[in-house]
Amino acid sequence: MTEPSEVLARTGGRSVKRIVYSAAQIAERVQGMGREITDHYQDGDDVLMIGLLKGSFIFVGDLVRQITRPVQVDFLVAGSYGSGTTSSGEVRLLYDPEAKLTGRHVVVVEDIVDSGTTLNRLVPLLRQRQPKSLELCALLHKHLAPSIALEPRWVGFDAPDEFLIGYGLDHSENFRNLPFIASL
Ligand code: PRP
Repeated sequence: MTEPSEVLARTGGRSVKRIVYSAAQIAERVQGMGREITDHYQDGDDVLMIGLLKGSFIFVGDLVRQITRPVQVDFLVAGSYGSGTTSSGEVRLLYDPEAKLTGRHVVVVEDIVDSGTTLNRLVPLLRQRQPKSLELCALLHKHLAPSIALEPRWVGFDAPDEFLIGYGLDHSENFRNLPFIASL
């Protein structure tokens, strides 16, 4: 239970509408996802977890510690700029994983699937690199997009269509450090 005074201390006095997922709820679900991912990969091949920065930085750290088989970890920064909304050609990789994807099991780790735009741009580009398999693990999924380029195999929570902050998610770069997820 997070006291209102603690929330205010953490947000610098900005009140939140409600805590949507507590730190304990997140920890429990992330542990479950770690188990599910561990169980899924049984062939002994490399599994590369690629977190999309910045939003996934906390989730990746917690998730990989709940996976009880060897994995490798890298990150990717995709710029959500450009004029188009769906073309994969317009994705800008501001940081590209150094790790080679070809022939490896790749799991993209997202904090939230919102409109799906980021994934629709990114997934075709990753597929071009011919991973052995490509899966998506999203902590939060709003289910807003009619279709996305890669449906997440693992979802933490089906999230409400509210502006969510905390546990990596920001508003103007603030609140990423909240240990819970709240609605602004
Ligand atoms: C956020 C979030 C997801 C993306 C989801 O990233 O972390 O990556 O938006 O939204 P979409 O499904 O509508 O594309 P953002 O671009 O805000 O950058 P950040 O991760 O650095 O916060």
